[in-house]
Amino acid sequence: MVLAVPKESGQGERRVAATPETVAKLVGMGFEVRVESQAGLAASFGDDAYVKAGATVVPDTAALWSAADLLLKVQPPTPDEADLLKPGAMLISFLWPVKNKALIDRLAARKVHAIAMDQIPRITRAQKMDALSSMANIAGYRAVVEAAGFYGRFFTGQMTAAGKVPAAKVLVIGAGVAGLAAIGAARGLGAIVRAFDTRAAVKEQVKSMGAEFIELDVHEDGEGGGGYAKEMSPAFIKAEMEMFAAQAREVDIIITTALIPNKPAPKLITEEMVKSMKRGSVIVDLAAENGGNCECTVPGQAVEAHGVHVIGYTDLPSRLAPTASFLYGNNLTHLLSDMGGAKNYKIDENDEVVRGALILRDGELKWPPPKKDAPPAAAPKATVAAKGEASPKPTKSATAGHGHGGDAEPASGTGSAVAALVAAVLLTGLGLVAPGEFLSHFTVFALAVVIGWQVIWNVTPALHTPLMSVTNAISGIILVGGMLQLNGPPGSLMVILGASAILLATINIVGGFMVTQRMLRMFRR
Ligand code: NAI
Repeated sequence: MVLAVPKESGQGERRVAATPETVAKLVGMGFEVRVESQAGLAASFGDDAYVKAGATVVPDTAALWSAADLLLKVQPPTPDEADLLKPGAMLISFLWPVKNKALIDRLAARKVHAIAMDQIPRITRAQKMDALSSMANIAGYRAVVEAAGFYGRFFTGQMTAAGKVPAAKVLVIGAGVAGLAAIGAARGLGAIVRAFDTRAAVKEQVKSMGAEFIELDVHEDGEGGGGYAKEMSPAFIKAEMEMFAAQAREVDIIITTALIPNKPAPKLITEEMVKSMKRGSVIVDLAAENGGNCECTVPGQAVEAHGVHVIGYTDLPSRLAPTASFLYGNNLTHLLSDMGGAKNYKIDENDEVVRGALILRDGELKWPPPKKDAPPAAAPKATVAAKGEASPKPTKSATAGHGHGGDAEPASGTGSAVAALVAAVLLTGLGLVAPGEFLSHFTVFALAVVIGWQVIWNVTPALHTPLMSVTNAISGIILVGGMLQLNGPPGSLMVILGASAILLATINIVGGFMVTQRMLRMFRR
C-alpha cells in the first residue's frame, strides 16, 4: 500500500505529516512510504533522514499524489491538490468540514475516502490520536514563549545586589489543553500564575500545576460533555468579565484560550480592560483563529494596543515545527495502527474513533456521524460530590478507562422489590440454619459490600488516584490474610481461597500502582 507524505503548500506552514521517526514506524506497519522531496526541511528533517528511515523521496508532486493509496497531510489540501488524488485513495489531514464545505464536495467528486484529524473524538481511547490536543499543548507552551519575548522583563522574581525584581503575574483564561500547557510553561519560568475556567472539573488540575484557581460567586458549571465546554449564561459571563477587569489592572500577562466548539470565541477582554493594563503588558490570544477572546486581537498578527502587546498568532504549533510534526506524525501512526496497519487495513465504521472522524467514504458524505443515544437520565441520588457544588457526573466517554465499566444504577420498581423479597427469604433461611459466628461475619461482609459499593461508585473521577491508594492498602491487608491461610492442608478449600485472595489482591495492587503512576505522570513536567 503506497503511503504518501507531501510537502505542505500552505503559506508559512512548517510542519510535515511524518518525521523520519514516524516514517520508520509506518514502514514497520508494512506501508510503502513515499515522501515529497524537501517535505520536512522547514521542520529540520532532511531528505536523507527519510531515506534512512525507509522512505523513497519523490521530487514530482503530481506523481506523488496520484500514486498514493493513502495520503497523510497537515493542512487541508488546496482544490488543485484534491484533484490529484486517485479515486479510492484515503486522505488523512486536518479538514475542518464545517468551514470547508466546498473542499469536501470537491473531494467527494473525486470518490475518495477522507478522515479529518480535527474530528477525532475526545475520548480516553483516542487520546493518542487526538491531534487537536497535541497541537493545543504546543500552542499553550509557545504562547508563553511568545509572551516572554514581548514582555521584556523576568518571569521569575529575583533578589539581586542591584535591587529586587518582582515575579511576573500571569492570568490564564480557559484551562483546557492549551491553558494547562501555558500554566506549566509559565510556572516553569517562575511566574505567579492564576487561572480561570468555567468547568469546575479543571480546578484540581490547575492547582496541581502550582497555579491559583480563581473562583466566582456565581455557581454554574460549564461542563458540556466530552471534555469540552458549554456556553455560559449572560449572568455568568458578566460576572467573569467583572473579575477579568479587576485582574487586568493587576496582571502583566494574559493568555486566553476560551473556546466552545463550533462557536465564535467569547469576547472576554474588552478594549477598556486592555487600556487598564500596565504599559508593556502582553496578551496572547490563542482563540484568535475563532475571532479572538480580546477585542483588540488581530488574527495572525502581533499588534500594540494602548501600550499593550496583543498577540493573535494562529500558527503557534507551526512555530515549533519539529515537535509539532513529531507529535502529529505519532497521532497519525496510532490511527493507522488502529485501522490495522498496511496488512489488515480497514475503514471500520464500528470503530468509534474512525467513525467520528470519517468525512467521506468512496465519495459519500459520512459526516457528521450519527449521534449516540443519550444515556438514560440518572435517578436522583445523594453523591459524595454533591456538597453544594454544581458538578454533574461526567459522561461515560469522559471517564472511560478509569475502571468504571458501566452504569451502576440499582434495578428499579417491581424488579428491585422482587429481588429484595428473595434476598430477605434467603437471609431468613440462612439465619435459621447457620452458626452464630457465621452470622456476625456475614453481617460485617454485607455491610462492607453495601458501603464499599456506595463509596466507590460515587467517587468523582478527580479522586480516583487517592481511591486507588486506599484500595491498595486494603488489598495489602487481604494479601496478609491470604498468606496466613496457606499453612492449611494442601488442596483444602481454605488454601485455595487463600491463594485466590493473594492472586486477586496482587492484581489489584499492581494495577493500582500502574494507574496511579500513569496519572501522576500526567501532572509531572
Ligand atoms: P479546550 O476546549 O481544551 O479548552 C478551552 C477551555 O476554555 C475549556 O476548558 C473551556 O472550559 C474554557 N472556556 C470556554 N468558555 C470559557 C469562558 N467563557 N471563560 C473561561 N473559560 C472558558 O481547547 P484547547 O484545545 O485547549 O484550545 C484552546 C484554544 O486554543 C482554542 O481556541 C484553539 O482553537 C486554540 N488553538 C490555537 C492555536 C494557535 O496557533 N493560535 C493552536 C491550537 C489551538
